[in-house]
Amino acid sequence: MTYRNDPYDPKQPALLDQTALDDAVAGADKAFAGAGDLDALAALKHQHLGDKAPVSLARREIGSLPPAAKADAGKRVNLARVAIQSAFDARLAALTAEREERVLVQETVDVTLPTGRRPAGAQHPLTKIMERVGDLFVSMGYEVAEGPEVEWEWYNFDALNMHPDHPARSMMDTFFVAAGSDGAGAHREEDSRIVLRTHTSPVQARTMTTRRPPIYIVCPGRAYRTDELDATHTPVFHQVEGLVVDKGITMGHLKGTLDKFVKGMFGEQARTRLRPSYFPFVEPGAEIDLWFPQHRDGPRWVEWGGCGMVNPRVLRACGIDPEEYSGFAFGMGIERALMFRNEAPDMRDMVEGDVRYARAFGWEA
Ligand code: FA5
Repeated sequence: MTYRNDPYDPKQPALLDQTALDDAVAGADKAFAGAGDLDALAALKHQHLGDKAPVSLARREIGSLPPAAKADAGKRVNLARVAIQSAFDARLAALTAEREERVLVQETVDVTLPTGRRPAGAQHPLTKIMERVGDLFVSMGYEVAEGPEVEWEWYNFDALNMHPDHPARSMMDTFFVAAGSDGAGAHREEDSRIVLRTHTSPVQARTMTTRRPPIYIVCPGRAYRTDELDATHTPVFHQVEGLVVDKGITMGHLKGTLDKFVKGMFGEQARTRLRPSYFPFVEPGAEIDLWFPQHRDGPRWVEWGGCGMVNPRVLRACGIDPEEYSGFAFGMGIERALMFRNEAPDMRDMVEGDVRYARAFGWEA
């Protein structure tokens, strides 16, 4: 059916002609269908739905119609406009979906592909403990000292009052590296044999022969013994040595220092106990026991290291007058500290070098 405007109206605005409206709808449909992407579609919107689009101009013409023709014309223009708008919306939805699909494909990440990045490592818990020990003592005014791991026998034993015929010398199962010119027990270090240091105590002798008191040093480091690797021993282990030489130093200073140290390491509830013992380089000497409430066989005291007042013979051998100065020294096992502190039951795990083990200790205050 062809539409006429009001037959009584002599004016017949061409834009309101139904054919013109149908053409506008068909033209828009065709244009939208031809838009290849969202930008092209957006560019067409103005042309077919904007102020100057045929349907908009047609709507403006309605005002000039006689009242009786307005409702019908309005309805037809509106239908045309709705048809164009829905053609636009449908194409917009289709192009948006297409783009999303394309983006999904283009930006797909294959998370299973191998990467060139190496996994991050982790500091070994023994290293962390030694750093913490150093920090604690530095905060008390100490210096961190170092010494060689391949050591003259003289520093490892002789200077520490362990002469070749001394029974204590055989208590430490020693790795010998090279013979000296004069054999064991020479009184000059250059003539002595070379060993892998069996403890960190030679750093005491090195410090006392090269420096004058007051001496406040701590030395975390590696030591070696021909011990079998088992849950509580390893042939390569770590100790921390402490040495103080000053005027008027007493056993009370030693005990106070150890208590402060263990609280910093293990928490406020940590306690130490000194048990009389023998080390040739200290007199009196003691074993340091640590209260270990989380021990898997129940709370108990466990041996952690040795300590005592520096033997006057050692002071003298290192050129320090024992009448003027006194001192204390201590040496503890770092692996043992890790066992107590982090409930690490087996030393064998500590030496394997598996990064997963180190990573599991992701702590440090
Ligand atoms: C000493 O090595 C003395 N130099 C300690 C000392 C220093 C005493 C200063 C007095 C003054 P001892 O042999 O007991 O002492 O060893 C001390 C600690 O080192 C032990 O308690 C233990 O915690 C640790 N340790 C010793 N051998 C091993 C080992 N094979 N594996 C792991 N830890 C060890």
